[in-house]
Amino acid sequence: MPDYDPLRSYMHNWFMSIHVKQYFIEFLAWEKFFLKCGQIRRIVELGSGMGGFSLFLYLHAGFRNASFYTWDVNAVHMATRPFAEKIGFSHHCYQGDVLKDEQTIEQIRNVLSLTGKTLLFCDNGHKATEVKLYVPSLKPGDYLAVHDWEHEIFPKHIEGLPLKAHDVEHIVELGCWTRFFEVTG
Ligand SMILES: C[S@@+](CC[C@H](N)C(=O)[O-])C[C@H]1O[C@@H](n2cnc3c(N)ncnc32)[C@H](O)[C@@H]1O
Repeated sequence: MPDYDPLRSYMHNWFMSIHVKQYFIEFLAWEKFFLKCGQIRRIVELGSGMGGFSLFLYLHAGFRNASFYTWDVNAVHMATRPFAEKIGFSHHCYQGDVLKDEQTIEQIRNVLSLTGKTLLFCDNGHKATEVKLYVPSLKPGDYLAVHDWEHEIFPKHIEGLPLKAHDVEHIVELGCWTRFFEVTG
């Protein structure tokens, strides 16, 4: 086998030819998660990057009649493409500093606390801070997904938060950097 592992390499990954900062193998974990997560009313992503993964989440939200929101401190350039406009994606990209801007923080907290199951995906500049800032706005039964688990964010960062691990079959063996949690009461 060659050393290069295309499923677990950050070099050139895309969804619909738009860059994603995810291993390709993470898509499998997300599909497994979505198959069993039940009725989700909204998906909130913190850290849009180039927008490829946001588009993946947007389509999942659309097919389950859920709302979608993604925030980034930078504009998502691909959201200005005509097709992104046509499918409504552009209207779901919000710009703001999710760690420092009070108005943005307030806006996100309000969305997270809306009625119905929320999935929050933390994939931003400082995941440990994001989790601390936003998990308290989630409700029992909501989901948290974090990227860079045991690379940037560690078990010590979620100690004391009302979270329990949400098992996605074989996620560790697959070599995924994403982990899912369920908010407890
Ligand atoms: C790892 S990338 C997101 C990748 C994207 N979720 C994906 O899977 O392709 C992290 C993003 O967080 C954004 N970011 C970093 N600090 C931020 C902050 N304080 N507020 C908002 N966005 C921030 C960066 O601009 C960058 O686009």
